[in-house]
Amino acid sequence: MNLIQMGLGASLMLGAMIAAPDAAASKGVEVEHLGSNNTLIRITGDSKYILLPVQESNDDAGISILVDGKLDRNINVRLAKSKVDYYVPFDLSGYKGHTVVMNVVTTQNRSNVREAKEDVCWSDLRLSDSYDTSNREKYRPAFHHTPLYGWMNDPNGMFYKDGVWHLYYQWNPYGSKWQNMTWGHSSSKDLVTWEHEPTAIEPNGLGAVFSGSAAIDTENTAGFGKDAVIALYTSAGVSQTQSLAHSADNGVTFDIYPGNPVITLDSEARDPNMFWDAKNRQWVLTLAHALDREMLFFTSPDLKEWTLQGAFGKGIGAQGGVWECPDLFKLKVNGTDEEKWVLLCNINPGGPFGGSATQYFVGDFDGKTFKADTDASGNIPTKWMDFGKDNYATVSWSDAPDHRRTLIGWMSNWQYAAEVPTVQYRSANTLPREAGLFRAPDGQIYMSSAPSPELTAIRHKAVVSGKSFSVGNSARKFMLPATNDGICEIALDIEAKKSESVNLLISNKSGESVTMKYDVGAHTLSFDRRESGIVDFSQDFPAVTVSPTFEDDNKISLRIFVDKSSIEVFGNDGNFVMTNLVFPTTPYTTLAVSAKGRSARITNLSIFPIKVK
Ligand code: FRU
Repeated sequence: MNLIQMGLGASLMLGAMIAAPDAAASKGVEVEHLGSNNTLIRITGDSKYILLPVQESNDDAGISILVDGKLDRNINVRLAKSKVDYYVPFDLSGYKGHTVVMNVVTTQNRSNVREAKEDVCWSDLRLSDSYDTSNREKYRPAFHHTPLYGWMNDPNGMFYKDGVWHLYYQWNPYGSKWQNMTWGHSSSKDLVTWEHEPTAIEPNGLGAVFSGSAAIDTENTAGFGKDAVIALYTSAGVSQTQSLAHSADNGVTFDIYPGNPVITLDSEARDPNMFWDAKNRQWVLTLAHALDREMLFFTSPDLKEWTLQGAFGKGIGAQGGVWECPDLFKLKVNGTDEEKWVLLCNINPGGPFGGSATQYFVGDFDGKTFKADTDASGNIPTKWMDFGKDNYATVSWSDAPDHRRTLIGWMSNWQYAAEVPTVQYRSANTLPREAGLFRAPDGQIYMSSAPSPELTAIRHKAVVSGKSFSVGNSARKFMLPATNDGICEIALDIEAKKSESVNLLISNKSGESVTMKYDVGAHTLSFDRRESGIVDFSQDFPAVTVSPTFEDDNKISLRIFVDKSSIEVFGNDGNFVMTNLVFPTTPYTTLAVSAKGRSARITNLSIFPIKVK
């Protein structure tokens, strides 16, 4: 250490003793270090935001925001230690004219205040009237919902009202990893183009705002007014309890019910999902009894007083992980008048290809509890909604028009969601899907999820249109649309005839590809993403996923949606679905179709560019 460094060290130590403002902080921000893990940020300037510098690999710092000396809220931010990955905005506009102090507790082990002062975050704090949300990500999808910035997981509280589809989501406004769970909000008139709405529900003294549902109280059972939008969500503090909120402005802002929580248990339970049971004139709520791996059913006349009525799931179906995010609804079996209930039970881990996935049961609900159908041998089979790795926390919209049961999932997997190669935001939702029921060749009833009709409207004029041909060993190649870099829909019908397999290869100029193989004898479609692009950010990412095709005539029709970093394959009107993320280093440009063994017949091959706004 030279003399100048020693002198600086001494003055820093003196500074520490009298807690003087740190001269290095930006204009309008005063930083006082109180100890090795405690620092005060005083905001003296007058701007819309303070931008907080984040280093993703760092631990969270706990920040208490004091307004005029009173605790307003607590947030957790991975404040930067040695390098700034990006900034997150903390909105100060609600505090105009008030004194704002941030009391920061960092969790890093440090021996003295001098070390704390060296963190780069302190000198990089800055006030600003704007926060740049323009897209900086090459993998951000073009026709899937994503948050403007920050981390997103489960879709929440979706309802449809007055022509608008509302979508809330688990959101971290202060970083691109899971934390500070808040209900973000987006709305859409076409399920494809999403408007970003103001934050809907924020954490409070009962905890963070975990997943839940919303519905319209058409009969004013709760007393918040006819057609009030009611949300039920999990307050996740030390315990998980269920909370009620209502909105009188169509879901833009919510008032938290003062009598919360409305349901308490002495064990982990979350993700309340409710609907109005018109026949029995009651609200029904399904709650995930997460660690017990079962779903609980409650009823209520007014959304406030709930009575436990039944439970389903102990020892049934996939049990390899916690049960989360339920949904319960009735559907007609395709082509019949038979009605059946479907219970969605998302599970993590324990999915068919590792990590998280959506399982479901088909059965009956008597207003109190659910009973699953058995197969021919008297067992309750495990059924999966999607045979890819990246569809989780699927739930449906309440009050959708025309008796539609429209579903959406989180297009990621808890195994690697926080490691995928994006920074500004993390995670998209799946495409919206329409749930139905069909009877498969094995005699059982399964749930289908077909692309929502709105997705047909975004097709541009096809670059390959209605091509029919026979194909054998040597591949027929087709160029994918060059517009919009790596986004398109591919539709085709495959008549495998006596071929062993039909193969689709989607590839780019960098030698990366996805292979889909229709194994005719096995009646399966596989999806191999091991060579699809960047795969090494997690050992769980490279994978081959396999779906049954639920047919016995060697024919499948496929609709394949490619959107920069995802491929969703819908087979036979959604009778089987595979959703997988991919991160090609350059956009996919080519489709190659071939068959093994004898030749196969391909009809109606069309490739559509997608209209994006
Ligand atoms: C599912 C889940 C839910 C919970 C939420 C928290 O992905 O674990 O059970 O409510 O995420 O963000």
